[in-house]
Amino acid sequence: MAFIHVPKPWQLPERVATSETAFLNRRKFLKAFTGFSIAGAALPLLGCQSQATEGDPLQGVVSLPADRNPTFVVSDRPLTNERVAATYNNFYEFGSNKHIWDEAQRLPTHPWQVEVTGLVKNPRTYDLDDLLKFDLEERVYRFRCVEAWSMVVPWIGFPMKVIMQQVEPTSQAKFVRFTSFYDRQITPGPSFPPSQFLPWPYTEGLRIEEMANDLAFFAVGIYGHTLPKQHGAPIRAVLPWKYGFKGAKSIVKIEFIDRQPATYWNTLAANEYKFESNVDPTVPHPRWSQARERLIGPDSEFTFTEVPTLPYNGYGEFVANLYT
Ligand code: MTE
Repeated sequence: MAFIHVPKPWQLPERVATSETAFLNRRKFLKAFTGFSIAGAALPLLGCQSQATEGDPLQGVVSLPADRNPTFVVSDRPLTNERVAATYNNFYEFGSNKHIWDEAQRLPTHPWQVEVTGLVKNPRTYDLDDLLKFDLEERVYRFRCVEAWSMVVPWIGFPMKVIMQQVEPTSQAKFVRFTSFYDRQITPGPSFPPSQFLPWPYTEGLRIEEMANDLAFFAVGIYGHTLPKQHGAPIRAVLPWKYGFKGAKSIVKIEFIDRQPATYWNTLAANEYKFESNVDPTVPHPRWSQARERLIGPDSEFTFTEVPTLPYNGYGEFVANLYT
């Protein structure tokens, strides 16, 4: 995260965020989906209905219909073009540059399980098809990276509190830790700094009150389809009032614990990447200001509009009460 790519300034187009995808009829999809599950197939939907070809950043994705939740729309900024979002990523397991979408195709996402464990009454392991059976919705969120660039992204998924309701954290549970997929053979990490010195696997965490907040979201899709691998397929965290690094990708484990967990970036540089890391224009990163951000695109990573950064990334009405 140390290097910032600074493209040329550009005018903000006047169009506002609108869906770029035509969704399938939700009921039809669920019926077909249930049929597959009853037939005992291990989610044949995933990985077999590619909407794009090999060599394409959108390879392997499958339509995932979900109604947009009107509470979570963005009207002051345009939706980022999906190909821009899919080719400008941070996924250090595959390298430290922004263009790792091709390397990320090595991630094995099928089958996939997420273990939910620790201080809970009902520990559970979810298969991917369990997760896709939750009531999915689309939410358009502002997305602000700690590196001072931002996008506007339509995620598909479900609120984190849905999982909490199922596993029931005990009264001792104060924090949650998310662990991302890691396998040295598959996720070699960056060549610099040398990967063997980095605190793998990638982990992140929240207070459980933060996890229970309405905004805290698990995404299983984006732009009307399943997540491309580079976005953290098949399931990742999305926390729009925090800097983007808090949103762990490709989650394999969710643990409820009684103390604040060590996390990847905080372990590497605690003074630069705080555990809480709420978007705050008044608190500069030690090496750069957070007062403004480069809103990328909407149609190219090489264009941007500079806009003021909003406290809590504009989500204060939902979360400010957590921090009084
Ligand atoms: N999760 C994992 N496992 N590995 C990572 O390197 N990068 C984080 C976050 N989640 C990261 C991660 C950072 S720094 C950002 S800004 C976002 O993912 C980027 O998400 P995107 O590539 O989908 O835009």
